[in-house]
This record gives sequence, C-alpha cells and structure tokens, in this order.
Amino acid sequence: MISQLLPKTVVCAEAYEDGESPETALYPEEAALVASSVPGRRAEFATVRACARRALAGLGLPPSPVLPGVRNVPQWPKGVVGSMTHCAGYRAAALAKADDVLAVGIDAEPDGPLPDGVLEAIALPREAAWALAPGTAGPVHRDRLLFSAKECVYKTWFPLIRREIDFDDAEITFSDAAGSSGTFSARILRPGRLPDGGPLTGFTGRWLARDGLLVTAIALEAKGPARS
Ligand SMILES: CC(C)(COP(=O)(O)OP(=O)(O)OC[C@H]1O[C@@H](n2cnc3c(N)ncnc32)[C@H](O)[C@@H]1OP(=O)(O)O)[C@@H](O)C(=O)NCCC(=O)NCCS
Repeated sequence: MISQLLPKTVVCAEAYEDGESPETALYPEEAALVASSVPGRRAEFATVRACARRALAGLGLPPSPVLPGVRNVPQWPKGVVGSMTHCAGYRAAALAKADDVLAVGIDAEPDGPLPDGVLEAIALPREAAWALAPGTAGPVHRDRLLFSAKECVYKTWFPLIRREIDFDDAEITFSDAAGSSGTFSARILRPGRLPDGGPLTGFTGRWLARDGLLVTAIALEAKGPARS
C-alpha cells in the first residue's frame, strides 16, 4: 500500500502479518531492546525491521541494525532517511537516499473511529469540524485519518528539524476524503529551518484506505519545487 503514496526514489517494504523466519531475526542489540516486551511488541519490532532491511537492500545497501536514537528516531546508515510504522495487521518501512529525499514519514492506522476524547485532544477547531462534518461518516473514518496525517507529519518533521511539535502546531487540510485515497497539506504553525537554512513551513502528503487500514505518507524531496 505505502509505495503507492511515495515517489519512486523511496523504497518501501511492508508485511501484513508477523512470523518467525531468518528475515525477522534480530541483531543482539535490537533483541536486547525488546527482551522484556510483550510478544506482540517483539513481533511488530522484528517484522518492521525485516521490512527495513528489505528496503535497505532495495537501495543497494547491506543489512544493519535499526536502533532508536534521540526521541526514538530510528537510526539509519549514513546517507539514508526513512520511517517505519506498525499497527494491527500492517507493518511498513520506507527508505530513501538523502540525496533524493530530505525526509520521509509514514503512518498506518486501523480504519476505525478514534477512542473517545482523542479527536478533541489532537484537532484544531477547523480540523475537528471537518472530521465531524454531517454526512461524512464512512467509509473512511475522518478522525482517524486526521490523526494518522499528524503522526506522519511528526515522523517527517522530527528527524529533520529535531524540535518537538505538538498536535496543534500542524494544521492539516485534506483535498478530498470522499473516496478511498487523496492528498493532504500540513501547515506548520511554528515553522522550522532546513539544514540549508531555508524555511520549512509545511508538507504535502498522500493517503490511502484499503482493507480496513489507513496509511499516510510524506516525502520531502531534496529537489522539490521550493528547494531546486
Ligand atoms: C512517535 C510516534 C509518532 C509513533 O507513532 P505511532 O502511530 O504511535 O506508532 P507507529 O507504529 O506508526 O510508529 C512507530 C515507529 O515510529 C518511529 N519513531 C518513534 N519515535 C519517532 C520520532 N521521534 N520521529 C520519527 N520516528 C519515530 C519508530 O521507528 C517506531 O517504531 P519502533 O518503535 O519499532 O522503532 C507517536 O508515538 C508519538 O509520539 N506521537 C506524539 C507526537 C506527535 O505525533 N505530534 C503530532 C505533531 S503534528
């Protein structure tokens, strides 16, 4: 699913179930991180790292451990950017060469309503009005799609800018959510500075709903219109 949302320069790998295989074997330093975790966490951790190593191979790179760094940002080999996500029934990794893509973020969620109280906690008033607009219930759960887009924004933003943003620091606008796929824009209300000194004021992303899952993705291309 996720590769449909990203440019060809981003190599994606995904899995719909866990399973023990040589591919999901962890490096000792990875295994140590989840040694006392519940089985479900160990399984998603291993499967998503198998996805990451498949994506590394797709970039022509050898397998390596994927360890958390500051604020749990996954640490990639030098010159690589990427993102990982897991939710019930889905795991994915998306990786690219930093020469092509400055940052990538992906997020997956079950296509179901958010728990009570979460929309109020994550949405700006205009976003909440969009999510709750009369006549828009189903097939896509707008509240969950909004949440996923914000998580996707955070995963793109934080590894690049290294500054926390909160849910009310990004304003998401969906171009259309009547079908099962579309685009969104994220306006960052507290802009950041890119490594080259240019401003980072927002992102454009894409989303897709299928088989009970929602996925969102952003790729900030190195030679995008605003940066070429
Ligand atoms: C970190 C966070 C974004 C993860 O999202 P999630 O939907 O809970 O979980 P997902 O399964 O989709 O993603 C988990 C993966 O995200 C990655 N991740 C964790 N922290 C990260 C960070 N600071 N930056 C980028 N990626 C991160 C990791 O690879 C993790 O997988 P792993 O633990 O197996 O290594 C989320 O838990 C969080 O802290 N959100 C609050 C911040 C936020 O979203 N603000 C909104 C700004 S608009």
